[in-house]
Amino acid sequence: MLKGVILAGGNGTRLSPLTLVTNKHLLPVYKKPMIYWPLETLIQCGIKNILIISGRGHAGHFVNLLGSGKKFGVNLSYEVQENAGGIAHALDIADDFSDNGKIAVILGDNIFMDSKEIQRGVREFARQKRGAKIFLKSVSDANRFGVAEISRGRVVKVEEKPLKPKSDLAVTGMYLYDNEVFEIIKKIKPSKRGELEITDVNNYYIKRNLMSYKILESEWTDAGTFDSLLRANLIAAGILEK
Ligand code: G1P
Repeated sequence: MLKGVILAGGNGTRLSPLTLVTNKHLLPVYKKPMIYWPLETLIQCGIKNILIISGRGHAGHFVNLLGSGKKFGVNLSYEVQENAGGIAHALDIADDFSDNGKIAVILGDNIFMDSKEIQRGVREFARQKRGAKIFLKSVSDANRFGVAEISRGRVVKVEEKPLKPKSDLAVTGMYLYDNEVFEIIKKIKPSKRGELEITDVNNYYIKRNLMSYKILESEWTDAGTFDSLLRANLIAAGILEK
């Protein structure tokens, strides 16, 4: 079974001043701290070993909240990302933990309301010899996300926050990778905003025809801005359908 990684770093500046109080991933989404949602998504996929990578500021708060993982029936490990250098930069920290195996990576602010399709995707990926898999979701504000361009049933490119999106398919923050991901991270260069982008990692797989994808029907949202955090709360509470 593949191992899981939750990326819970970053400064959460888009949610300031809330994030002056605590880390973004510990803020509430309806009845639970935000990080419970991605954690439960991984657990529902049968993943037993999970690494949580957080920034330095509130790292101890994650341990206080989640402990060894015993109450969830899983093993939790923790690592600290010293400087916020992007999603791919944070993921590189999981190299040793991955033990040369495949990994499931989820962003700590991604809320999947129903994990059944993700579970199916994880099962499909277990049969995929090598490469990666991403999960896409049709959204009305694609320019806020990585956006997938699909042609003849293949994803041909992902563009990060494009001004003119080529589709309405956002790349969600759940990624399945083979162990080559750690070599790819070492090859990519920082983007204009000075970060190692997960989108560049994904395009590396796409270029070599090693990327599969699944389009999700069930509800998904990020929760990293005031509007999306509110939306996540309303969806989780069953007040908002879509
Ligand atoms: C990140 C990724 C983006 C992805 C999104 C999903 O964006 O860079 O490709 O679509 O997560 O939540 P961020 O929210 O860090 O700006």
